[in-house]
Amino acid sequence: MNHSTFNAHEYFQKIYARPVLLEAKKLSQVFKHGKTERTILNQLDLKIHKREFICVIGPSGCGKSTLSRIVAGLDPYSHGELIVDGELIKGPSPERGMVFQGYTLFPWKTVKENVMFGPLLKGASNPSAEAAAREWINIIGLEKYENQYPHQLSGGMKQRVAIARALVNEPKILLMDEPFGALDPHTRQKMQKHLMDLWQNIDITIIFVTHDMDEAILLADRIVALKANPGEIKEIIEVHLPRPRTPELMLTPEFKKLRERVDDLVHAQDDEVDPALEDLPKIPLMTSVNED
Ligand SMILES: Nc1ncnc2c1ncn2[C@@H]1O[C@H](COP(=O)(O)OP(=O)(O)O)[C@@H](O)[C@H]1O
Ligand SMILES: [Mg+2]
Repeated sequence: MNHSTFNAHEYFQKIYARPVLLEAKKLSQVFKHGKTERTILNQLDLKIHKREFICVIGPSGCGKSTLSRIVAGLDPYSHGELIVDGELIKGPSPERGMVFQGYTLFPWKTVKENVMFGPLLKGASNPSAEAAAREWINIIGLEKYENQYPHQLSGGMKQRVAIARALVNEPKILLMDEPFGALDPHTRQKMQKHLMDLWQNIDITIIFVTHDMDEAILLADRIVALKANPGEIKEIIEVHLPRPRTPELMLTPEFKKLRERVDDLVHAQDDEVDPALEDLPKIPLMTSVNED
């Protein structure tokens, strides 16, 4: 697909014709804070189609990670329904692979052993788990590092291993919560391209949480913009930009226009900020260096 032939209408028609893989129906999450309750997610309705690339965006504290944890099956939700492939989510499953910001590799296992972990857990024999791990380590291009430990790898490499460790289980959904948030800009850009390449070539639906608008626009088919207090879907934006996408796309007027729209949405004046940021304390003066 190139710029001159990209037809957004056709592209999205095809997406919407695919089966719905994940559906949230009036999904709510309420947390108890002492004796009071806070609604973090309020009645979310959302349908994600097979092989879609969805980015979830919103201000800090709006409930992005809360939503990721629910979809991952790590936390139960308070109300509504969350259905994957026709079944209610009841807990974690290898069908929903996870890559979160904090490196979640086992530090005492090598790259290969980390990737073998999922298949072994599912009952694969050692040789077949090793073969599957090798295949994925090759796909992400880290075969030279298979016997290294996580502390011997760069941040970007660790996240590649984390991706391989999720994908080796052949999940239907890859769930990523700010996965590149801790990387430097250059590595981050490379990882974005790497992820888009993977997504183009395998049968996977990606739900990618980020607060970085450029990242969301570059990656997504659709952007789910959340607002805070309580977390609600403010708008779902179709990204009408051709694929494959490269960072140069960010310099185009189309990208900049979309960027302004998303910026207005996310930083709308009427949105309350995270209450945790409202009562930042006044810091007492503890030094005299400011005096002159
Ligand atoms: N387990 C929990 N118990 C109580 N409050 C929580 C819990 N997890 C998150 N919260 C609150 O929910 C809000 C949303 O948090 P989070 O989902 O982490 O936001 P985001 O990822 O969008 O920055 C925050 O105000 C946070 O304090
Ligand atoms: Mg978060």
